[in-house]
Amino acid sequence: MNDVTFIVLGASGDLARRKLLPALYAQFVAGTMEKFLIIGAAIDVLSRDQILSETKLFIKDIDEGQFKKFSERFYYQELDFADADGFSRLNMFTGDLEKKKGLSGKRLIYFATASSFYCSVTTHCAASGLAVKKEPQDTVWHRLIYEKPFGYDGISAHEINACIAQHFNEAQVYRIDHYLTKELVGNIALVRFTNCVFEPLWNNRYIDNVQVVVSEEDGIGDRGGYYDNYGALKDMVQNHLLELVALLAMEAPEQLSGEYIRQERARVLQKLRFSDIIFGQYEGYTSEPGVRPGSQTETFVALQLYVDNPRWAGIPFYLKTGKKLDKKETVIHIKFKQVDCLLARKCPSDTNYLTIRVSPDPAFSLTLNAKKPGVPNEVVPVNMDFCHSCLFGEAIPDSYEILLQEIVRGEQAVSVRSDEIEYAWKFIDSIDQTEVPLYMYKPGSSGPKELEDFAYKHGVRLRS
Ligand code: BG6
Repeated sequence: MNDVTFIVLGASGDLARRKLLPALYAQFVAGTMEKFLIIGAAIDVLSRDQILSETKLFIKDIDEGQFKKFSERFYYQELDFADADGFSRLNMFTGDLEKKKGLSGKRLIYFATASSFYCSVTTHCAASGLAVKKEPQDTVWHRLIYEKPFGYDGISAHEINACIAQHFNEAQVYRIDHYLTKELVGNIALVRFTNCVFEPLWNNRYIDNVQVVVSEEDGIGDRGGYYDNYGALKDMVQNHLLELVALLAMEAPEQLSGEYIRQERARVLQKLRFSDIIFGQYEGYTSEPGVRPGSQTETFVALQLYVDNPRWAGIPFYLKTGKKLDKKETVIHIKFKQVDCLLARKCPSDTNYLTIRVSPDPAFSLTLNAKKPGVPNEVVPVNMDFCHSCLFGEAIPDSYEILLQEIVRGEQAVSVRSDEIEYAWKFIDSIDQTEVPLYMYKPGSSGPKELEDFAYKHGVRLRS
């Protein structure tokens, strides 16, 4: 993370204060950043001290001395995203500072802005020289980072991609999904492809269904204006949940890095077929700030999809996510098929799950049948657990810390390739949302009660 200029466009926003600046501070404290600059820019008339003091609220166990040193490298510039000259001024300001501080000019430009600005701001960056086209072998690199949501649908995502491609090489572009940097998500491919007990079984012969569940306790907070236009399907499924499906279902890449992984993920996303869906909305959602009265936007989704390739033909994938639920948890359940119960008197019908808990308390757990003590020929389910923190300690870096590290390293596996993002949107666009039933649910519950009918209809036990 050394010798890098971090330029945050949209520095007055929530993402910068809540995630990016705290992640950079944590890396500074960890000692990975000695020579660096952070230049924040946004339209708001703000002082750098205001941004820094708001950032502090999101840092646990702050060391005041360290934060002061960190703050000395932070600068703020007012910038109107529609003003081409403003970008030229920002470029000159950045270049002068880099010279003064002895930095080589490696720049990481973070678009912490709405995706409606992506094309125009990219164009201004290129025209002003704030970021210029570089070749992969260039040592002084410029990298551009785009947050999700990347567009609003397939057409807008395609337009943004085309706009970026006019000015920059794909190798410079990082469309990020912070789920791809979660420790246990990174572990999925490794566990799958390095264990003989899993890989041979990872197909439609032995797997019954796959469930990806992302539950959140919080509601939409103060993001009503954004969320009401997107909803859970576009805010969570289009990116985080589909990327998890892609990682779970992909074929073995030639290497576990960059292009190889992206290629295999894209192949899965290209083959997704939508099958069934229900929506939910938590009671009280329409009274949240920024939400339209009578809004029909979903805060909960449960859906069934298939991956139409030989490995997964006929195997349903269930995705479920919602806000204001009874817990905050991201978990993946892989349900293996039932064996014929010939030798035992009775077999539990619901065993042999591999459960991957991404957060909190990352863990793998394998449910197996074992003999019930004291009873001949009867089995009960037992769990074999691998608790990540028990073995490796609690200190798992935040996903934004990993993300920034990986981008500085030039690792593109944390970035969603242009075709991947378009396939994911194509899948979302294939769902006629006007036809999807919307059910209400109580905050703090496990979702709408009609979820039971959905599960019954598909003959599946949906796990939470
Ligand atoms: C974001 C969504 O991408 O992910 C939010 O926009 C959601 O609505 C968040 O709350 C969840 O991330 P995490 O890491 O807390 O599971």
